[in-house]
Amino acid sequence: MNKAEKERLAKVGKKLNVKAYIKNEIEAIRAQVGDKKVLLAMSGGVDSSVCAVLLHKAIGKNLTCVFVDHGCMRLNEAKEVKQIFKGKFGINLICVSAEKRFLEKAKGVTDPEQKRKIIGGEFVRVFEEEAKKLGKVEFLGQGTIYPDIVESGVGGHKAVKAHHNVGGLPKDIGFEGLVEPVKYLYKDEVRAVGKALGIPEYMVMRQPFPGPGLAVRCMGELTKEKLDILRKADFVFRDEMAKAKLDKKAQQFFAIMTNVRTVGVKNNARTYGYVIAIRAVSTSQFVKAGVVELPFKFVTKVAEKIATTVKGANRVVWDITPKPPATIEWE
Ligand code: XMP
Repeated sequence: MNKAEKERLAKVGKKLNVKAYIKNEIEAIRAQVGDKKVLLAMSGGVDSSVCAVLLHKAIGKNLTCVFVDHGCMRLNEAKEVKQIFKGKFGINLICVSAEKRFLEKAKGVTDPEQKRKIIGGEFVRVFEEEAKKLGKVEFLGQGTIYPDIVESGVGGHKAVKAHHNVGGLPKDIGFEGLVEPVKYLYKDEVRAVGKALGIPEYMVMRQPFPGPGLAVRCMGELTKEKLDILRKADFVFRDEMAKAKLDKKAQQFFAIMTNVRTVGVKNNARTYGYVIAIRAVSTSQFVKAGVVELPFKFVTKVAEKIATTVKGANRVVWDITPKPPATIEWE
């Protein structure tokens, strides 16, 4: 760790001057990168989004972002990323629709760890292929934030878990170095910087979404049919949470495809559809989590809406298990 990094580390925890931070960081990126090129993997999450806009402000067209749609994204996610970052900000963004390729690789696989490995491994391959197409790119951008560093056990802190947002990205493509413009910020500070940069509120305030995406929320084999049902059910739940202003009460809330089918009835006819689970948790550090006490009327309304409007789903259960013993994600 060099002197400048140590100084910035010492500032962590003090109230961030957002404007000054943006100005200094843009200068720091320019000083580090010069007229060389940077490649950034964008996930649509807060950290990589803020990172992208900061890098774009600093080096403009010398930044290329790659967004890989692995088929396990939430409803409209790829479309929104394109609209905002390519449309609004004019960022050089390559969107790779790789759903078919990912699902083909994951065909028949039901073991959770195996599924994760396949998604992670394929992600790296797609990313590498895109990087090669671009020719020489000197730097790899990363949306690493301060808790990632702490959790990975750097700077005298004990490792809690291997930080998995960026852990799997290729190191052997031949990058000269890393650019990590939000490395010393906490999540709320990243959000404040994002807001000041003009990233829409709904994107800046987004809940964390795991790298493997819906793959860890879709039990059993990953199929387009199941993922599409899950996407729609998840959207209904998140939308209702926002409309009822309950979204600020939970750090994470989402739907899960259980892979269990049960009998139901719709329009006087028998159905045989999937059971969807819903989960809302409150947590400060994601190591422990409590169940958010959603109003029962609200829960039954969501259940009914999912079971009646989402084709292929006909029953909803509510996950009321804290972490531990359960994890936040189902897989
Ligand atoms: P668990 O399920 O372990 O999740 O209680 C704790 C937090 O980590 C997120 N999570 C992940 N994030 N890649 C990520 O980027 C992953 O593979 C992954 N698995 C879990 C989870 O959403 C929660 O915020």
